[in-house]
Amino acid sequence: MAGEMSIIGSVILALFLAGYLGQQYLPPPKPRVIGLDLGTTFCSVGVFQPGTGEIEVIGDDKGHKSIPSVVTFTPTGVFSGHEGQELSDINPQNTIYDAKRFIGKIFDQETLDKESARYPFKAIFNNGSAEFLVSTNSTFTVTPEFIGSRLLLKMKKMAEKQLGIPIDKAVISVPAEFDERQRNYTIRAANLAGEFTKVYINRKSHQSQLGYVLLLESMEGTQTKNKKGKLHQSCEI
Ligand SMILES: *[C@@H]1O[C@H](CO)[C@@H](O)[C@H](O)[C@H]1NC(C)=O
Ligand SMILES: *[C@@H]1O[C@H](CO)[C@@H](O)[C@H](O)[C@H]1NC(C)=O
Ligand SMILES: *[C@@H]1O[C@H](CO)[C@@H](O)[C@H](O)[C@H]1NC(C)=O
Repeated sequence: MAGEMSIIGSVILALFLAGYLGQQYLPPPKPRVIGLDLGTTFCSVGVFQPGTGEIEVIGDDKGHKSIPSVVTFTPTGVFSGHEGQELSDINPQNTIYDAKRFIGKIFDQETLDKESARYPFKAIFNNGSAEFLVSTNSTFTVTPEFIGSRLLLKMKKMAEKQLGIPIDKAVISVPAEFDERQRNYTIRAANLAGEFTKVYINRKSHQSQLGYVLLLESMEGTQTKNKKGKLHQSCEI
């Protein structure tokens, strides 16, 4: 009996050791794909869970399940999401929100001026496109897709922190009514974020949740050989 026990003990020890050593020699975990919802007011990020087939919404370290679609510029930096929101009261004219209403849209001067009047920040006309005027230490303009890029980057970092693995692929969902130009500019936002090798645009529709799940699932299986930081491929579904 004692002999049996010690054999079992050794087996368990051997399994532990194998597991431990195995861990040391395992390749680093594969980057995963995240689903990003770049909303007008709030943004959220999710990851496909192969076990349950569900998309798990990822929170930040304070437990927020979404971030406000807000980017604030100050003399010391650019702050996105909750950080940006917190600074908005003291810095309203340099706090950009609702950028999704402007991304990839063609405006005439008059329409844009009317839009701009609704906001504490200034939207200016640049050859048919909207840009935002920012005045911190210096005065400059930023594009709606730049605002989008900061939010995408923020969510990517949130996901990496919570999941503990690198992420370099994303499925970004946009409203079904987004036209080709708006979708192109959303891809441009991901490109500006500079850290995705593959980006897919998913147009939300009635069956979007299922399509989204299947898309994330299929992308989980794909491997990327591209250099980090370079947007290699983007496409629409
Ligand atoms: C803006 O000005 C402040 C005070 O002069 C300085 O500390 C800060 O580094 C400047 N920021 C940038 C982005 O140049
Ligand atoms: C302005 O937009 C038009 C149409 O998109 C384009 O052909 C033209 O090159 C643009 N001009 C400048 C100065 O960017
Ligand atoms: C969108 O991007 C595609 C691929 O780069 C291009 O062929 C197409 O002309 C673009 N469409 C618009 C409306 O900008």
